[in-house]
Amino acid sequence: MTAIPAQRSIRPSVLYFGTPAALLATVNPDGRSNRSPISSVWSLADRLVLGLGLDGQAWLNLQRHAECVLNLPSARQWPQVERLARATGRAEVPAAKQAMGYVHVSDKFALAGLQRAQAELVQAERAAECPLQVEARLASPLSADQVQAANARGFAIVELQILRVHAHEDITVPGSQHVDTQAWQPLIYLFRHYCSTSLPMAANFRAEQPLTTTFAQEAST
Ligand SMILES: Cc1cc2nc3c(=O)[nH]c(=O)nc-3n(C[C@H](O)[C@H](O)[C@H](O)COP(=O)(O)O)c2cc1C
Repeated sequence: MTAIPAQRSIRPSVLYFGTPAALLATVNPDGRSNRSPISSVWSLADRLVLGLGLDGQAWLNLQRHAECVLNLPSARQWPQVERLARATGRAEVPAAKQAMGYVHVSDKFALAGLQRAQAELVQAERAAECPLQVEARLASPLSADQVQAANARGFAIVELQILRVHAHEDITVPGSQHVDTQAWQPLIYLFRHYCSTSLPMAANFRAEQPLTTTFAQEAST
């Protein structure tokens, strides 16, 4: 029988146990696309579910304009994500975010250094370099009750319907609809560290636990 390791209860400040990082493109009031790094995302059948903070531009945008693109970067694209980490599309940066060092950036596509690509079914733009890009729209219009529930909870749970998936050919299995899981290396956000599906790549600026020297050396080679 396998020996069970000793256990204890812990109270982690976040429970980011490892989900893909994504760049969520939503439509700003001026019609241009904003881009928000997120990691609270999961998918089932034709649905995507996101967890969004109430003080971000993404939530404001989705309440006004139902369409978006979920761009999924590869593990090696962590610098592009981290470049956006202290930026918000909100013209007036909320006080709590100011205290964390966030600044307003109106063109986050330029800040990330990723090219825009027109989507086929929605107004929000795709990030051309991201190997997977998912066009989506709210599964149903947001009701006043849903907004109220989000306000009461302190964050929003947003259900999206997937409209179209774009994939770089080199991460697909030729002649099929499949993603090649040997070729696709998603960027995983794990307790505020950027990881590949094998090794951690780098630490987010809010990470509470620095990477060990071993991993840092691995990442820099
Ligand atoms: C890797 C990473 C993952 C994040 N995950 C989320 C998330 O799941 N939900 C969320 O609301 N904010 C998340 N954030 C914080 C947002 O990126 C931040 O609130 C930012 O201001 C959003 O941009 P916006 O205000 O232009 O929408 C994450 C940040 C990083 C760097």
